[in-house]
Amino acid sequence: MRGKLLQLLMQTSDTFVSGQEISERLGISRTAVWKHIEELRKNGYELEAVPRKGYRLVHTPNHVTKAEIEAVLSTNRLGKNIVYKGEVTSTQALAHDLARSGAEEGTIVVADEQREGKGRLGREWHSPPGTGLWCSLILRPDVPPQNAPQLTLLTAVAVTEAIKEATSIDASIKWPNDILIDQKKTAGILTEMQSEPDRVQAVIIGMGINVNQQMEHFPDELLSVATSLSISSNQQTYSRAQVIAVILQRLEHWYDEYLKNGFTKVKQQWEKLSVTIGKEITATTVQKTIRGVAKGITEDGVLMLRKPDGDIEHIYSADIH
Ligand code: BTN
Repeated sequence: MRGKLLQLLMQTSDTFVSGQEISERLGISRTAVWKHIEELRKNGYELEAVPRKGYRLVHTPNHVTKAEIEAVLSTNRLGKNIVYKGEVTSTQALAHDLARSGAEEGTIVVADEQREGKGRLGREWHSPPGTGLWCSLILRPDVPPQNAPQLTLLTAVAVTEAIKEATSIDASIKWPNDILIDQKKTAGILTEMQSEPDRVQAVIIGMGINVNQQMEHFPDELLSVATSLSISSNQQTYSRAQVIAVILQRLEHWYDEYLKNGFTKVKQQWEKLSVTIGKEITATTVQKTIRGVAKGITEDGVLMLRKPDGDIEHIYSADIH
């Protein structure tokens, strides 16, 4: 209900909307309207109230709670069940628990802050409060486990497109799933799976997006490699709820395409948005370091590297430079 009220107040923020009209449009009593408005005020919303005119939304705090996201969400399935936590160990861990207890496809866990955010290859993911988007989406595609990495690439495409749509910033993808702006990382994706030998039960897609951080929010070791949407656009502030809503909308578009027609179009779009393909790179895997030219990705999202001797090496997991 708070999401619906917010949506109505946002739509009418250039004018006043009366308590009576809110009550009729949302099908709740005038007392309930008043209580919700008070609750919004307690949560940092500024609402002007004028007798006989009604309410007008003057200021929205940059929260990513269920109500804020629902107020701007336009998807049919993804994000229809939002689990919000102010603080959490990791949204990834919570999403795993929810998936194990049967949470429906499209459930998303969002937190304002993660105490132990996880990155790829066992790294830490810096997740301070009030600035970024830390979330984990549960999908249940009917595909064999070896196809699950395709969803990482699909997510990278969706996030890159959503950044462009929400902020007009051109971002690109570094294999497998780093989202870069001006060669610095602004978002990362961590895909994990719960599966039986021949069938995926759930794919947990963790997304970390640096949205409104300024340089001083990053620890020293990240200063030269990380950026945020705000830093990349002269300190503009973006609505985190709006950004996640657009991400979910792009994800739903590409996920529907994937389920209907397979990976081909996703792969084409990934290659178009990637900065890796065609470049001379160094890939550091757990066993070795290999140099070569990135020729493309396979149908499974594996990177194909042409080595100086002409042989093609398939890279499954690595850091690339
Ligand atoms: C990477 O190393 O690039 C992947 C980073 C993924 C971070 C996100 S933040 C939300 C979700 N919860 C986590 O603990 N990690 C992922």
